Amino acid sequence: MKNKVLVIGSGGREHALAWRLSLSSSVAQVFVAPGNPGCAQEKNVENIAIASDDYDQLIAFAKDNAINLVVVGPEQPLCDGLVDLMTQEGIKCFGPSAKAAQLEGSKVYSKNFLKKYNIPTASYASFTEIDSAINYLTQQNFPIVIKADGLAAGKGVVIAETEEQGIKTIKDMLAGNAFGEAGHRIVIEEFLVGEEASFIVVVDGKNFVPMATSQDHKARDNGDKGPNTGGMGAYSPAPCVTKKVFDKTIEEIIKPTIEGMINEGAPFIGFLYAGLMIDKNNNPKVLEFNVRFGDPETQPIMMRLQSNLDEICLRAIGQNLENFDLSWNKKSSLGVVLAEKGYPGNYAKGSLINGLDFVEKDVKIFHAGTQREGETVVTNGGRVLCVCALADTLKQAQQLAYLGVEKLDWQSKYYRSDIGFKAIEL
Ligand code: AMP
Ligand code: GLY
Repeated sequence: MKNKVLVIGSGGREHALAWRLSLSSSVAQVFVAPGNPGCAQEKNVENIAIASDDYDQLIAFAKDNAINLVVVGPEQPLCDGLVDLMTQEGIKCFGPSAKAAQLEGSKVYSKNFLKKYNIPTASYASFTEIDSAINYLTQQNFPIVIKADGLAAGKGVVIAETEEQGIKTIKDMLAGNAFGEAGHRIVIEEFLVGEEASFIVVVDGKNFVPMATSQDHKARDNGDKGPNTGGMGAYSPAPCVTKKVFDKTIEEIIKPTIEGMINEGAPFIGFLYAGLMIDKNNNPKVLEFNVRFGDPETQPIMMRLQSNLDEICLRAIGQNLENFDLSWNKKSSLGVVLAEKGYPGNYAKGSLINGLDFVEKDVKIFHAGTQREGETVVTNGGRVLCVCALADTLKQAQQLAYLGVEKLDWQSKYYRSDIGFKAIEL
């Protein structure tokens, strides 16, 4: 019998996961709660009008519709314990328990964990009191990194260039006005230099399978300048993750993390995403953990995945990933995010999007912040679309993706024109 799958979330990541699941030979039907207009256009994919934080309704839907697999996209439901709730109800739900999700949900938890298990990361200290945080800060070198403890949608990290900026950030966070609950504890950590990469593996509690390598561009503007965002574009593979870096990451980061979580009584099941900083000597350090797939890394990675995604997730839930290999398209993939001007600050909504009927072989338009309005689709979020292309080389994938980017249009469309520049020799 083929699987009925429920994907939770509404972004570009969830569109890409739902699309890839729908192509699996062992999937009959994919539902997405709440999904977006892009998901609804895929064959065998249906949006369900249940919010991603309406846990009772999600559980009821999964039961009523004999769902065989639930895949949770965003971090919030994972940190809230949706996997625990679904598992108690006998529903197969892929992702970490609330306890294991603390790897992302609390920067203090994850830094203490990294230190305890001797996993390479920036040196740090954590604080709840303004005075002791400032006292520590004044004895450090600049720039320095200040992070709110809790989930802050990518906005809880400030790189302070000066003591003055650092003190202001500490006060903003710990006084509780700028970041709410998430900022009542902070981490102050050493500023690392090098090249960032996203290292994502699927874990079954004990065994793991690596996803294809990837990199994203977190800064909003060309040349990796401007404010930090959720991600303005991504590509796979990531040339900076050489065999040597890959092997080191597995031995020094992934294996000790999985073993550490077993030791903590919180075995990790799900997508484990280590955000890495790779220094000039090819040594990777953990910048952060995410306990879910990356957005927009998912989009180019799903363009390349050939194995059945539902099988991977079900094997992980069944603790059966040992000796399991994934199959990848050898081609390269690159995705460019189209955003609303102003993102990640204030931005407009409701602009009519033209060009969505653009069709080209090996180009895929993933929706994120879009909404259907009658016969049309309008903008409804900061990151609106992600145009992905698949080609023999990253350079060709870049050219093909930008061909799509230029066909799409709305008032106040904004995008970076240099996605992939670090990986492509110009
Ligand atoms: P995080 O959410 O912890 O990954 O931080 C968001 C972004 O801030 C990262 O992708 C890096 O670009 C930057 N960042 C975080 N921590 C550090 C660090 N210790 N040194 C340098 N950059 C950092
Ligand atoms: N692209 C970074 C993230 O998903 O957190």
